[in-house]
Amino acid sequence: MNENTVLYQITETSAYMMAFVLVTKNDNAIVIDGGRPEDMPLVKEKIGGRHISAWILTHAHNDHISGFVFELGRNGGADFDIGTVYYNFPPYDELIGKTDVEDTDYFRTELNEMLPAFAAVRDRIAPKEHIVRQGESIEIDEVRIDFIYTWHDGLTSNPMNDSSLVFKVTTPNKTVLFLGDLGPDGGDVLFRESRHLLKSDIVQMAHHGHMNVGIDVYAEIMPEACMWCCPDWLYNEPEVPKYLSDTEKLRRMGRIRMYGTAVTRKWMDILGVKKHYVTKDGTQTIIL
Ligand SMILES: [Fe+2]
Repeated sequence: MNENTVLYQITETSAYMMAFVLVTKNDNAIVIDGGRPEDMPLVKEKIGGRHISAWILTHAHNDHISGFVFELGRNGGADFDIGTVYYNFPPYDELIGKTDVEDTDYFRTELNEMLPAFAAVRDRIAPKEHIVRQGESIEIDEVRIDFIYTWHDGLTSNPMNDSSLVFKVTTPNKTVLFLGDLGPDGGDVLFRESRHLLKSDIVQMAHHGHMNVGIDVYAEIMPEACMWCCPDWLYNEPEVPKYLSDTEKLRRMGRIRMYGTAVTRKWMDILGVKKHYVTKDGTQTIIL
């Protein structure tokens, strides 16, 4: 029996990524995403051979799930004792031919980033998979997980990030909200549908802290601490980085409210957040 519930926010071995390992008092693990193949050794180390009661995949982008997909392809995930894999990805076949979107090329590139690679190895976890529905809850030892948001049809300008699972982890002492890579539009839907569920002690900053949900969402969460999956350059990014300077192009793509990390950090100062866990400083150990 462990004294505490512990959450590890794994530092990046690859350029930027997201991976968390939670260890319950009964010594079971809950894994969130995992990063890229290069990140898997460190993820494996933190799992430490424990049973993985839940492996939650937030969305199908390579900085989140390509490590998981790589492990399945390599040996069927034999290095991991996985109970259930939770996810809800957009339906590729239904969407790939869609033309009534802001930017067809971008939309298809997004769908093609990880969904075909995942589909190619899916049979290896099929008996263990559970497609998450919004409103579902699971309990693992002293931890409860409430799934607050899943993919919504019609969010096409930032399709994969806006398909991120949003879920709240509740322990006897703390609540932690995971926002995945949710963007401004997905954040609007989340706010409209579920603002009454958002209040949490700790928040995983959406989309690594930039180009993410609005301050209205964070104001409902009113966190005391923030977890940033950010290398140094991203944590210290200006309000309008170079790649977001072509506002006309962004408007055409339906991606208007896209700002660098500096804006989000300013919001957190306004909300009075005092504690920041940032992966640039190494793997963070958070007692829940
Ligand atoms: Fe990401």
